[in-house]
Amino acid sequence: MIAPGPVTVVLTPMTRRDVRGVMHIEEQVYPRPWTAPLFLSELAMPSTRAYFVARVGRRIVGYAGLMVSFEDAHVTNIAVDPEWQRHGIATRLLVALAREALARGVQHLTLEVRTSNTAAKNLYRRFGFAPVGVRKNYYPETNEDAIVMWAHDVDTPEYAALLAALERRVPGTTEHEAQSC
Ligand SMILES: CC(C)(COP(=O)(O)OP(=O)(O)OC[C@H]1O[C@@H](n2cnc3c(N)ncnc32)[C@H](O)[C@@H]1OP(=O)(O)O)[C@@H](O)C(=O)NCCC(=O)NCCS
Repeated sequence: MIAPGPVTVVLTPMTRRDVRGVMHIEEQVYPRPWTAPLFLSELAMPSTRAYFVARVGRRIVGYAGLMVSFEDAHVTNIAVDPEWQRHGIATRLLVALAREALARGVQHLTLEVRTSNTAAKNLYRRFGFAPVGVRKNYYPETNEDAIVMWAHDVDTPEYAALLAALERRVPGTTEHEAQSC
């Protein structure tokens, strides 16, 4: 674990060149990780997908993605390098995803989360997600159910203010770049 403290995190759109670094995290944090070809196929659909990576220096420390379907956007993946967790990296990524969704005209956000994933559920609750249902045995590799969560009516000044408040509480600095180096 990296000791807590202010850090500068740079967010960029994920590119094919980032997939190796992303897989390094993906394989550590999930019992059934996505494959590199799956990430590449997601990146090949930019009209309906948005993926960001977070870097500290040159190192990729987290990533997150979104699938847009008309007025809904589905958070498809969000993960942070175990060494860099609890530094607000996921919060920064989710703020960026939500703003990207809003820029694309989305009104509602949704996602699935493992019943046992307290860290993720806490994170999502902060962003206004509430549980609305259960998908039984959604994760067969661990025989676990998914909780389906929604954040409705995010295209409001109140939700923009929530995002700004969450962003302000994150320690350190967040920079946004259009391209990775
Ligand atoms: C869930 C995950 C993305 C959170 O990333 P993170 O960068 O550590 O999250 P943040 O630092 O932005 O934390 C924001 C809030 O989420 C909650 N949270 C994060 N990690 C937590 C933990 N281990 N236990 C309890 N709450 C936690 C807290 O409320 C935290 O705020 P706080 O630090 O002020 O208490 C990270 O734990 C992870 O990558 N897990 C493995 C992959 C995964 O489960 N992804 C989600 C799939 S649905």
